[in-house]
Amino acid sequence: MAESVWGQIKQLTEEISSAKCENAEALEAFRIRFLGSKNILKPLFGEIKNVENSRKKEFGQEINALKALAEQKFKEQQSSIKKQDKASEKNTLDMSLPAGLYPQGSRHPVSIIMDRIIEIFEKIGFSVAEEREIEDDWFNFTAMNTPEDHPARDMQDTFYLKDSEKNLLRTHTSSVQSRVMMETKPPIRIIAPGRVYRNETISARSHCQFHQVEGLYVDKNVSFADMKQTLLYFAREMYGPDTKIRLRPSYFPFTEPSAEMDVYWGLKNETDYRITKGTGWLEILGCGMVDPKVLENCNIDPEEYTGFAFGMGIERQAMLKYNISDIRLLFENDVRFLKQFSSVI
Ligand code: PHE
Repeated sequence: MAESVWGQIKQLTEEISSAKCENAEALEAFRIRFLGSKNILKPLFGEIKNVENSRKKEFGQEINALKALAEQKFKEQQSSIKKQDKASEKNTLDMSLPAGLYPQGSRHPVSIIMDRIIEIFEKIGFSVAEEREIEDDWFNFTAMNTPEDHPARDMQDTFYLKDSEKNLLRTHTSSVQSRVMMETKPPIRIIAPGRVYRNETISARSHCQFHQVEGLYVDKNVSFADMKQTLLYFAREMYGPDTKIRLRPSYFPFTEPSAEMDVYWGLKNETDYRITKGTGWLEILGCGMVDPKVLENCNIDPEEYTGFAFGMGIERQAMLKYNISDIRLLFENDVRFLKQFSSVI
């Protein structure tokens, strides 16, 4: 009996020494066999009572060494499997594969139209001027020939800043005109895109915030004919080479004479009748010769210089172009709406 126990120790020593666990399952089997709660070494410890006294100490040492060997072997195998796993993880990462595509954003329809307008005017020498949205009453109204008691202030219901009679959210990009004229000497040729605010009830057709593009040209001998030609050029670039325009007399405090420009939209379908009120003509912008008083307010000599200005809304043009029936859609940032413009350049 005792002899076979010695033989068993020898055999197990060999088995443990030569063990090679290829994977996690094999390692677990090894652990259960040699280190688990019912491991194969346990009964051997009980055999010590059958070993002759003179060799009891030796037996104890051998069997403890066997246990230590199993523990060491387990650790070794465990770390080599870990290394192996890491290496194979690296191998599954194929660096030569093309990168996954990121979802592509789209430009907002208002930006698309605004950029197009800027591009058209840049081609004929206008440069972009941008200014603040919180404006001083003077630049928005007074300099623009709209003093405090002027009835035209009611045309544009204004958001004043809390506790301030001086600061407001600009009601039109015409405030950029006075800012630029105060800072620059003619010749001035600018285009000013930006957001404006009016205290209006939000509905499908109007909003309390929207965008405008302002234009201003001041130099010696600038005439009404120059303005008309510039606006015709714009309309044809924007709406096609056969576009017809008309100028209707109008009123703005800061221009004299003033006009509104319509483009001929046509009467091809029911929507055309509705949006043009049956005339076929569509109002696009307000314009006029800069009022001499405005030049004077901004320290430009009206005897020496003349100029024209125009201002147009962007939202309505975007709605026409993309057949959008409700202006609120342009401010809701609903991705389902916006992503429809991803193919538009
Ligand atoms: N500021 C005017 C508006 O908001 C438009 C305009 C600009 C008219 C420049 C004439 C000249 O309605």
